[in-house]
Amino acid sequence: MNTLQLTAEDVLQTTRAVRKRLDFEREVSRAVLLECIEIALQAPTGGNAQGWQFVFVDDADKRAAIADIYQKAFAEYLTGPFSPTADDSLDEKSEATQKRVVDSAQYLADNLAKVPVFLIPCIAGRTDHEAVAGNTMVQSALFGSIFPAVWSFMLAARNRGLGTCLTTLHLAGEKEVAEMLNIPYDSMMQVGLIPVAYTLGTDFKKASRKSASLLVHFNQW
Ligand SMILES: Cc1cc2nc3c(=O)[nH]c(=O)nc-3n(C[C@H](O)[C@H](O)[C@H](O)COP(=O)(O)O)c2cc1C
Repeated sequence: MNTLQLTAEDVLQTTRAVRKRLDFEREVSRAVLLECIEIALQAPTGGNAQGWQFVFVDDADKRAAIADIYQKAFAEYLTGPFSPTADDSLDEKSEATQKRVVDSAQYLADNLAKVPVFLIPCIAGRTDHEAVAGNTMVQSALFGSIFPAVWSFMLAARNRGLGTCLTTLHLAGEKEVAEMLNIPYDSMMQVGLIPVAYTLGTDFKKASRKSASLLVHFNQW
């Protein structure tokens, strides 16, 4: 196993959304992906149900078709109500940060097909089934039984010199992607798409975040 031997503190603080520093040329072996999955499988799931499945896509035609769906969803997102550019309450610094994120996200959307591997994590069950619509407990348990593993995968990847970025936009075309990859749509929910590639350079920094003092509560809100 070839790792960067980052400390736990470093890997937790420097695993960034990597978009512009992905090496589109360097091959990513299935062996290294499976190493990261072994680590991801140590993550918790509700009731230890382990209803997770991990679909890797390294076929170039399939990546191109999925990238197409992603790109359309990105264009719609940019002009829609959830677009970061729709938020006019931002101060100057936050606006500049937001602009950088959108610019970087546009680059990923434009180049997604070139990323050597996509990971599409799935969980058994669907939050859009009528029986659970409005049931926060069930919905939280479903998402909470896959995202810890996704983040562990991303951390393990980081320690192996791989860059990742958690994305959700392709879910606008989830059904189409399910058909393309034979994912049983009615019983398995895709929760995102993680592009995986070696990074150009391995030095990544801590991000600037809101101060904990604005976010933490003891005993009452
Ligand atoms: C739930 C979730 C969904 C996201 N969806 C996308 C996406 O569809 N496309 C994208 O480029 N980035 C996406 N991101 C990445 C965020 O933009 C990124 O994590 C954020 O800007 C902070 O950057 P950092 O991870 O480098 O600290 C998503 C992140 C999360 C947690």
